[in-house]
Amino acid sequence: MMVRFSVNGVARELDVEPGERLIDVLRERLGLTGTKEGCGIGVCGACTVLVDGRAQNACLVPAASLEGCAVTTIEGLSQGGLDPLQQAFIDHQAIQCGFCTPGLVLSAKALLDENPAPTEDEIRAAIKGNLCRCTGYEQVIAAIASVAGTGYRALDDEVEAPVQSPELRAGAGWPAEPPTATPVLDETKGTVPSVSSGGGEGR
Ligand code: FES
Ligand code: FES
Repeated sequence: MMVRFSVNGVARELDVEPGERLIDVLRERLGLTGTKEGCGIGVCGACTVLVDGRAQNACLVPAASLEGCAVTTIEGLSQGGLDPLQQAFIDHQAIQCGFCTPGLVLSAKALLDENPAPTEDEIRAAIKGNLCRCTGYEQVIAAIASVAGTGYRALDDEVEAPVQSPELRAGAGWPAEPPTATPVLDETKGTVPSVSSGGGEGR
């Protein structure tokens, strides 16, 4: 079926298969390999992208459900230079292998676009669906906190979907709450978080 949506502000019209996932469209068809695939089942958050500003696991999103949507990947944040969040991750040494980083940055962006001055607890809650196996979380939280309250604003204001049809959106069968298991952030720096089921906040 033909689906029209935007990716990082560029209008796309693609013929997608019923079971085709957004992550495959991004990586295999559009060459946007900044979106990583870890678990493929909605647990690790490595594939996090923004869909209409909301953090979503691209491995769980059917491409066929994207009619009229605006998708933002990590590539979309650095079109005019590094996003303040990306710079903050560098400055706070919140990156080691970097596999989790695109997803973490986009989860943080979704938070700050909605809540420009979150508390530490709110930051922890926002990234609870993103696993990091080598850096730990303290540097990540510090990086996000350094941007919080600094006037960070949605960089996607200029990104508009090519189609904004409520009728099509309503008929697209968007999965309101995809089934997922949600990792729980371990308070201990540098350890691998445990994973519990439920409470996925849409991811
Ligand atoms: S690859 Fe999508 S959540 Fe792990
Ligand atoms: S930096 Fe390696 S998984 Fe997070």
